[in-house]
Amino acid sequence: MATAPDLIAPLPQIEIRPMTDGDVRAVIAIERASYPFPWSEGIFRDCLRVGYYCRIVMLEGAIIGYGVMSAGAGEAHILNVCVREGCRSRGIGRALLEQLLARAAASGASEAYLEVRPSNAAAIRLYQTLGFEPIGVRRGYYQAVGGREDAVVLKLPLRGRRAHGR
Ligand SMILES: CC(C)(COP(=O)(O)OP(=O)(O)OC[C@H]1O[C@@H](n2cnc3c(N)ncnc32)[C@H](O)[C@@H]1OP(=O)(O)O)[C@@H](O)C(=O)NCCC(=O)NCCS
Repeated sequence: MATAPDLIAPLPQIEIRPMTDGDVRAVIAIERASYPFPWSEGIFRDCLRVGYYCRIVMLEGAIIGYGVMSAGAGEAHILNVCVREGCRSRGIGRALLEQLLARAAASGASEAYLEVRPSNAAAIRLYQTLGFEPIGVRRGYYQAVGGREDAVVLKLPLRGRRAHGR
């Protein structure tokens, strides 16, 4: 009997590794293509300089995503998570976030926080499926075309989460 085709694409063979200064140009290109109000090159370089946890996602030798997180005083803050258009909806954003959260737990954080635009349905769905819950709103937090947009603040308790990650 013929088997049904596999309708769920497997997670591609990605590698997640530390970001270096040499990656910033490629990161910025993805950043500019992904956000209407992208981070500057200087922000990424500052994140590296101050020792934030900055990771790169590689696929077949190319940079296709990145994540930036700060952790300290028992809290982790996910500051940026991005996957290049064309590589989305294949489980890569989830894999990257899982890695960041595992690292946060390993560093002793008991909670992770992030901010997201209420209009960013894909990101909100991803965060919800990982267990993040809304805890508040920062009014007018983001730049937006023709004004400002609120940020929804999400929180995830990390207790009990498997702690690993380099
Ligand atoms: C948000 C982002 C990182 C998600 O990355 P991704 O690799 O596409 O996400 P995944 O394939 O791992 O999807 C994980 C889950 O997120 C949700 N999701 C992802 N894309 C979605 C979409 N377009 N619509 C609705 N839900 C979506 C789904 O729940 C999905 O789980 P499922 O595939 O089991 O249904 C990516 O869309 C992105 O880089 N966007 C631009 C930058 C950005 O907005 N970053 C977040 C800033 S707060």
